[in-house]
Amino acid sequence: MTSTTDQGAGPQCDWLRGRTESALDCGGLLVPWGTAAPPPDRGATDPATQSGTAQTALPPLTPDEVATVLSVAARAPSLHNTQPWRFRVQDGRIDLLADPDRMLRAVDPDGRELVISCGAALFGLRLGLRRVGRLPAVELLPDPAQPWLVARVWAAGHAAPTRVEADLIAAVPHRHTHRGPFSPGAVPGRLLAAMATDAAAEGCELVLVDDVTVVGRLDRLVQAAAAAQRADQQIAAELARWVRAPHSQARDGVPATARLAADAGGTRLAGRDFGLPGTEDAGGEPPSATAVLRTAGDAPVDWLRAGQALDRVLLRAAARWVFASLQSQPLESPRHRSAVRALLGGRGYPHMLLQFGRANTAVATPRRPHAEILARTQADW
Ligand SMILES: Cc1cc2nc3c(=O)[nH]c(=O)nc-3n(C[C@H](O)[C@H](O)[C@H](O)COP(=O)(O)O)c2cc1C
Repeated sequence: MTSTTDQGAGPQCDWLRGRTESALDCGGLLVPWGTAAPPPDRGATDPATQSGTAQTALPPLTPDEVATVLSVAARAPSLHNTQPWRFRVQDGRIDLLADPDRMLRAVDPDGRELVISCGAALFGLRLGLRRVGRLPAVELLPDPAQPWLVARVWAAGHAAPTRVEADLIAAVPHRHTHRGPFSPGAVPGRLLAAMATDAAAEGCELVLVDDVTVVGRLDRLVQAAAAAQRADQQIAAELARWVRAPHSQARDGVPATARLAADAGGTRLAGRDFGLPGTEDAGGEPPSATAVLRTAGDAPVDWLRAGQALDRVLLRAAARWVFASLQSQPLESPRHRSAVRALLGGRGYPHMLLQFGRANTAVATPRRPHAEILARTQADW
């Protein structure tokens, strides 16, 4: 498999070769089963979409509605804020494409984190459709002949957002990766339980790590993985391309305002060393909860689910002004990832370490304009 954009330039990428799967995903809480009509370009005879429901013709999204949907999706988190996605709007559906030019081949050679980032944007697409009063239907990895096409989303019905969905939508502008100080106050157990339920609804597991000894061991793995990455010239050079100088006007990458001036220490997992200090203050209150997001399998379809769960959990927290610092460095080396896996009982595949706490501040990181993330020409696909 070779993506169109790869042809003739750079390494041939075969990260999804032979591993694509197609599954109709009706999205748990946000989309009740049985409402999905087939994607607009397919007939009712497609076995993947026969749900026995009436397939009514729905008016296509207006350009304003598309813009609203994309603005929710584009606020998703992504590794180093690479925003490795493209959206193709055609025939009444939105195709989500991974952007191979934004894949971090040194630190993420399998494209796992690329797909997780796209999964987070996919949850944003679903939520964006709810914002405009549509019920989203989703097909994951719908076409093995188009391996960079990670999902196809279309409107399968109308309904006003529920109260929970409205809360998540309202949290989109202030959700952020929190590397600065937390405020006093524990994260309520009810909220942690709701986040675990959200992860389960997306086919994932949010494992809460209560044992401080285990948190300490996770921290040692973070530090060991970080040291190995610092010593790797390719990884260091790749990271440097995404770390922005103070006052940079770049619309992607990690800005100085989102990076720590110095590491926080204490009961916080060591933050990712971006190689260039930022302006964010360390210290403050310790995080109130530590968790690991994991999936039962480790195929691209699982990575997509992990991304959707990640965005959903982070938005659920942000709706209550609870935010997470994220750590994925030990999961980027097979050796350290196996150790994290073993620490959690040997089941499943970890994708993200999260630490939650309360905060009153929300510094938004930049995003690329819609003109850049819309795939318009054949060459963009
Ligand atoms: C797959 C993935 C891995 C990430 N790993 C880390 C990490 O190790 N350390 C960190 O500080 N942030 C990490 N992040 C957060 C991103 O840096 C962040 O989402 C991005 O810079 C955009 O900022 P925002 O989340 O505040 O919108 C990760 C995000 C994703 C989706």
